[in-house]
Amino acid sequence: MTDSPSFLAPVTISDYRELARRRLPRQLFDYLDGGAYDELTLKENVKAFRNARLRQRVMVDVSKIDTSTELFGQKMAMPLILAPVGLAGMMRKRAEVQAAKAAEAHNLPFTLSTVGICPMEEIRAHTKAPFWFQLYLMKDRGFAKSVLDRAKEAGVPVLVFTVDLAVVGARYRDPRNGMMVADLPLHKKLWAGLQYPLHTRWLFDVALGGRPLSFGNLKGALDGGAGLAEFRQWIDSQFDPTVTWRSLEWVRQNWSGPIVLKGILDPEDARAAVSSIGADGIVVSNHGGRQLDGVEPTLHALPRIRDAVGGRTKILVDGGIRNGLDVVKAVASGADAGLIGRAWVFPVAARGQKGVEAVLTNFKKEMKVAMALTGVTRVSDIDRGCLLSK
Ligand SMILES: Cc1cc2nc3c(=O)[nH]c(=O)nc-3n(C[C@H](O)[C@H](O)[C@H](O)COP(=O)(O)O)c2cc1C
Repeated sequence: MTDSPSFLAPVTISDYRELARRRLPRQLFDYLDGGAYDELTLKENVKAFRNARLRQRVMVDVSKIDTSTELFGQKMAMPLILAPVGLAGMMRKRAEVQAAKAAEAHNLPFTLSTVGICPMEEIRAHTKAPFWFQLYLMKDRGFAKSVLDRAKEAGVPVLVFTVDLAVVGARYRDPRNGMMVADLPLHKKLWAGLQYPLHTRWLFDVALGGRPLSFGNLKGALDGGAGLAEFRQWIDSQFDPTVTWRSLEWVRQNWSGPIVLKGILDPEDARAAVSSIGADGIVVSNHGGRQLDGVEPTLHALPRIRDAVGGRTKILVDGGIRNGLDVVKAVASGADAGLIGRAWVFPVAARGQKGVEAVLTNFKKEMKVAMALTGVTRVSDIDRGCLLSK
């Protein structure tokens, strides 16, 4: 991955990250780019993929390579899903809609976050393909139920239930930038706010036409026009630290489709996910290094989790996937599919829908090359033999 992006033709996720950095107000870029505490796990996630060694094989007929796969009865062009990212619609005008359209054009699932800016009804109105929805369980179960009912109404097939946010890990870049701080003195608030009008491309695109503070899925709980500090207070008051495996019964009772538990990093928890509610899938995830800093990178945890529950539930993984070669490494390490977070939000922030489309096109090309040169032609043939063991 290059560290010196060409701005005429961004190619890698580092290129898009740099374009996003230039375009976004500092508070927003750091919210997106940063992780918890010293950001050790954030870096390790990426490094684990960089360090995994593919095993080159030659003289295999690779004239026909099929990157497609199927999950929960849904055909998809690659084993890749766009992960739920809160506040994405603050990075670009109606960013969740733009990304969902890009995902649809590439025949991949898009996952909308509970704390997305665009409401699920807006995604539905702009796309035909099924999109997934991610839920955080709120203390107000009545409200949570109404959100699930709306998701059903919008035709969402798969519920992603996030389990690694019982408490919110401290992301130090945010307070440093005055982001989501309720009691910031007025002069600091003004200073922090000054960066917004100075980023004119962002200002005209998002602030003047994008309704960036509308929190569409929280309609009725958090009114439009609430600031980020009020948003953070709502999160702190509503996120439920009492949630246990037993609480999942409530989710099962209120959702009849497949449930994917996101935020599993330990084989014991993977077993519990299967035995408690028979999770249809799990996402091996540390929330992109935004929760407990110092935990293991996801690619390292994956093979042990595969050994523990493989065959009993679908295993997805996220954290550090930055190109199509990484997707092959994820599948070779035991995943049925990978999810990308920052790798879709940097391009949507930088270039909107066409940025995400360009990235997804590249992912597919990269996957094909990685498959061809590891000597496999179908996703089901990608296994640990595609990697050099250390
Ligand atoms: C800015 C940001 C916001 C996120 N918001 C959510 C969210 O609302 N719900 C959720 O389950 N995960 C959320 N995540 C975690 C992602 O779904 C995913 O696990 C993570 O981004 C994967 O790491 P990657 O960015 O290295 O691909 C967020 C991640 C980022 C970077």
